[in-house]
Amino acid sequence: MTMKRITFADIFAGIGGFRIGLERLGFECLYSCEKNEACRQVYFDNFGDLPEMDISDIDFSKIPDVNIITAGFPCQPFSICGKRKGFSDRRGTIFFHLCNLLQAKKPDVAILENVKHLLHLEKGSVFEEIITTLEDLDYFVRYSLLNAKDFGLPQNRERVFIVASKHKPFNFSRIKPKLKIPQLKEFLSKTGDFQYIDDSEYTLIKHPKQQDSGLIFVGYRNKSIWKKGIRPHTEHLSRVHRQPNRIYSVEGVHPTLPSQESSGRFFIYLPEENRVRKLTIEECYRIMGFPKSFKRNASLSEAYKQIGNSVATNVIYELGKEIMEQKLTVPCSKFNNRARGFKKSEKPIQLTIPGLRLTHCN
Ligand SMILES: C[S@@+](CC[C@H](N)C(=O)[O-])C[C@H]1O[C@@H](n2cnc3c(N)ncnc32)[C@H](O)[C@@H]1O
Repeated sequence: MTMKRITFADIFAGIGGFRIGLERLGFECLYSCEKNEACRQVYFDNFGDLPEMDISDIDFSKIPDVNIITAGFPCQPFSICGKRKGFSDRRGTIFFHLCNLLQAKKPDVAILENVKHLLHLEKGSVFEEIITTLEDLDYFVRYSLLNAKDFGLPQNRERVFIVASKHKPFNFSRIKPKLKIPQLKEFLSKTGDFQYIDDSEYTLIKHPKQQDSGLIFVGYRNKSIWKKGIRPHTEHLSRVHRQPNRIYSVEGVHPTLPSQESSGRFFIYLPEENRVRKLTIEECYRIMGFPKSFKRNASLSEAYKQIGNSVATNVIYELGKEIMEQKLTVPCSKFNNRARGFKKSEKPIQLTIPGLRLTHCN
């Protein structure tokens, strides 16, 4: 007997980080959508599928039925929602289109990913509205912050993941962080055309210490703060802006690769050589869990932006594995007559995020 494969649609597909993670589990991608031309080309080069374009122009009836919809949705348009109440006010936002798609296709599960800051937008009211809207579409909704460094990748990349499921709630507590956080040095190329910087160009601090995040800040480049290229109102998203010219040791993890950095100004300190060099583009893709065979965009600046915008594939793999193990894509009769919301006995655990009133997480 042949087992039916779990299928998914890759929405806001970018360069396919979700797809890499889920295909590793044998899941089958039946559909993709991405409006950025450069991303679409890379997606095609790697998966042989050219994603459809803007979600707002797509006829949902032409999208095949799938078990899972994945969406690392853009967060900027949210600044206009949350201020007002009611579904009509969200019209025109990307999230609204995504909700329309969920309503039309009714997948068993939706996996949504976004930056941690989404939790804090407008004092948490935007996030609250997102959760409520998904519940209104008759989904159980759970969310959690997951960090790439806990899933075998040497990068402090914390993202909020929302799992909306039709038949029973997703249990995030079953996702166990790996015991060992890898060191960046385990992921570095042995040879290559490395760009070292001269000793005179940086200053090392005296007693570097590993932070809880896994980062070991060792020094900084002797340069003025770099502010160019940051979009207005996205300063909070920019690691480059907040951590200009910082240098981290390869004996810790690397900071989040940001999508705004198009020149790859990521500087790493190699204690064994007592030298500082740039992290290479290959190494950037490696610390996001992309395979060696991945075909990047020919333009280096595009390739940097694309990987910074993508998702840590190991985290997607873990989520997919749990979705499978918790049988979320199989209708479960026990839950068929459920009422939306929680029974007292399944009171969710509160994730302590200051200013956030939601309790729908575990
Ligand atoms: C955060 S990125 C997702 C990246 C993806 N998860 C990956 O692994 O590369 C969001 C993506 O949504 C795309 N996007 C934004 N608005 C869109 C729209 N209206 N229709 C389709 N794609 C859109 C952007 O071009 C961007 O690549």
